[in-house]
Amino acid sequence: MKIGVLGAGQLGQMLALSGYPLGNRFSFFDTTGSPSAEIGETICDQTGARLTEFLSQVDLVTYEFEHLPLELVKQVAHHKPLFPSVEALGVCQNREAEKALFDRLRIPVAPYRLVNSAEELASACQQLMAEGAPAVVAKSITEGYDGKGQAVLSDPSEANEAWALIGHSRLIVEAFVSFVREVSIIAVRGRSGDVVFYPLAENHHSEGILRYSLAPLPDVTDAIQQQAEGYIHQLLDSLNYVGVLTLELFQCADGTLLANEMAPRVHNSGHWTQNGAMTSQFENHLRAVQGLPLGSTQAIQPTCMINIIGQLGDTQAILGLKGAHLHLYGKSERAGRKLGHINVVADDLQSLMTQVRLVSKHLPNAPEPKFTCV
Ligand SMILES: Nc1ncnc2c1ncn2[C@@H]1O[C@H](COP(=O)(O)OP(=O)(O)OP(=O)(O)O)[C@@H](O)[C@H]1O
Ligand SMILES: [Mg+2]
Repeated sequence: MKIGVLGAGQLGQMLALSGYPLGNRFSFFDTTGSPSAEIGETICDQTGARLTEFLSQVDLVTYEFEHLPLELVKQVAHHKPLFPSVEALGVCQNREAEKALFDRLRIPVAPYRLVNSAEELASACQQLMAEGAPAVVAKSITEGYDGKGQAVLSDPSEANEAWALIGHSRLIVEAFVSFVREVSIIAVRGRSGDVVFYPLAENHHSEGILRYSLAPLPDVTDAIQQQAEGYIHQLLDSLNYVGVLTLELFQCADGTLLANEMAPRVHNSGHWTQNGAMTSQFENHLRAVQGLPLGSTQAIQPTCMINIIGQLGDTQAILGLKGAHLHLYGKSERAGRKLGHINVVADDLQSLMTQVRLVSKHLPNAPEPKFTCV
């Protein structure tokens, strides 16, 4: 089976790496002008002129990037099976549509407002803070990633500056959640509606970028895991979804979960599954889109994923550490850029933390690894 991938970054690269043993071959279609997958065939095209050529090479199409022109994706779906669907992509690339779906399914979210001007932003900030929000987070409706297109306001007087900084014509303004921790759940739905769930991962961000993901978590009760599974299952079924879906959540002091956002693809907070689970998220996504049986999502060992951001650090020293698996994406160093990650596995959580601290010492600018469960 020849798989076409829209987007040609590291997620596409890792999909292909896990698809070769399944007998798959890959073609990538890049609309950004900076592909980095470097595996299989890549067609770079910002105009859509080479779409027919791409489509002629593949049996089905999936994507590894959600900020794709929807018209282009509709054209793809017209000619080849496309998973996840255009509808799922449309919802996930628009925070307003995403929140509306959460509301319709009664999946709890932080209070929010939609605004079209700096004045409306100031009044939404004032209202949400009057209702008890300690601050608000304003976000562009489209195109956000790695915390880009966002601003935190702790007073309505900051609205003009935040509006100018974000530079979009419509924003969503959310109450700032004083969460205990951020977690994510990754689930996979096959073509016949079968669903499997990975255990929740705890995620730590710094400057808007994910730095650490830890899974499985000893302090997640069955009730919390099931609550997260219930939410994502509803999302999967309501979208008749096929493939990997990720739901980012805030866990509050009373244990409850609030949905933040979702991603219609394999996700950075699921990279731990490459070395820590029976089947990786990448392999399971490929199994799902091809209508193959889904693999076990069971965790094998406690695993921590550490992102390599901006500078490579001492990768040779890292490879000398027990339990450290290096995954480099073949990108050059640049501030804030995801260059690779390290999955650290160990027999128990204490030894895992020891190894994670040792690895982080070899990464410039890595924040101190701290988790709520250890
Ligand atoms: N309402 C909120 N309250 C508190 N923190 C928030 C809120 N919204 C976002 N954040 C923080 O900002 C981070 C990035 O926000 P969000 O996930 O909405 O945007 P993103 O740019 O799409 O992120 P990414 O691409 O990294 O998933 C969150 O992981 C969280 O740490
Ligand atoms: Mg996010």
